[in-house]
Amino acid sequence: MATPMAAPATVDRNGERMSRDWQDWADIAQAPESLPTLGQPVSEVETPALIVDLDRMERSIRFVQDYCDRIGVRNRPHIKTHKVPAIGRQQVAAGAQGITVQKLGEAEIFAEAGFDDIYLPYNLLGQAKLDRLRAFLDRFGDTVKLSLTCDSGLVAEGVSKVAVAAGRTLDVGVECETGMGRAGVQTPQQAFDLALYIDRLPNLSFGGLMSYPAPLDEATPVAFMGQALQVFKRAGHPAPEISMGGTPQLHWSQNVPGVTEYRPGTYIFHDRHTVERGKLWTMDDVALAIHGMVVSRPTPDRAILDAGSKAITPETLGLDLLGHVVEFPEARLYAMSEEHGFVDLSDCPPDQRPQLGDRVSVIPDHVCATVNMSNFLVGARNGKVEVVWPVVARGRVR
Ligand SMILES: Cc1ncc(COP(=O)(O)O)c(C=O)c1O
Repeated sequence: MATPMAAPATVDRNGERMSRDWQDWADIAQAPESLPTLGQPVSEVETPALIVDLDRMERSIRFVQDYCDRIGVRNRPHIKTHKVPAIGRQQVAAGAQGITVQKLGEAEIFAEAGFDDIYLPYNLLGQAKLDRLRAFLDRFGDTVKLSLTCDSGLVAEGVSKVAVAAGRTLDVGVECETGMGRAGVQTPQQAFDLALYIDRLPNLSFGGLMSYPAPLDEATPVAFMGQALQVFKRAGHPAPEISMGGTPQLHWSQNVPGVTEYRPGTYIFHDRHTVERGKLWTMDDVALAIHGMVVSRPTPDRAILDAGSKAITPETLGLDLLGHVVEFPEARLYAMSEEHGFVDLSDCPPDQRPQLGDRVSVIPDHVCATVNMSNFLVGARNGKVEVVWPVVARGRVR
């Protein structure tokens, strides 16, 4: 008879329970993962695995840095795509001026890793967030310049109170909605009014305008920022810094009036979405693929991969399939369950179909959400493993 599992220890005080649970985590969940070894042929790395083509990644770092230098804007890459401090260091070494993060959890990791100029363009709202902001300023206030944005007076007021309590002054910009249909003030006049309000709050200084435009809509941000510059000028204020972002939008970024900074994220690896919506790259620039294995061929027209929705995000960003199978371009990755990828082979010639045990590489529709699910990335060159990076800020979504 199977031994019944021990009942979980219940201790009255929450703190004690929690510390036991975390001890469990330290003891059990830290069991070593089967990591690839350096020098190992990529073709032998256990699947599913996220493999980064280092030549392509380095080329991309250079390309986007050169592009920003040429159009005269600061490059402040968004690290939410890779979440790996070592990659962020390569971006800074190539010329990036600071980094962008989306959440305090990412800021904490990258500050701990030594990054000293961090932009967090996300509304920080609620006491729990403000307490963490205070803790961040207490811990890193002397070494890290943290700048924020907001799209309401309420967010600015909360941040101001924390800045006063911590004895710091913070730059806070205004998020503007320029066609994405997401967060942000709706008009240039509102942007100006909020900028003045921020400047009047204790220990805050207006930090410029920020927007994340929709990938295919150039006209709206161009009109918005053009009008915003007029509003500031008419009121006798200097032109604000203007921070724009987005990989697929890079080719028209220089047309946004007054743009001073750019925040590209996905370019570090690219994916089907940036190739489909952008103009400056092709599938040959995509640096990350999920290597999977065909673990079942239940019918002549179907292959099943060992990579499902826990290895590749099923988020399509409006694209038709769930990913591109590089070696079998006619194959269609049409569905996933958690650990299975469903591939339709009916368009592949009968003699060009993957066999049981074959390895394939899949380019995801959205690489950022895919990376966030993996404990490590495998960097490879010339078919050999060169580096294995832990995805240090993985899961830091708070
Ligand atoms: C505020 C902000 N800035 C920059 C980026 C980077 O965009 P991309 O990953 O398309 O380069 C994002 C992406 O979500 C974002 O939300």
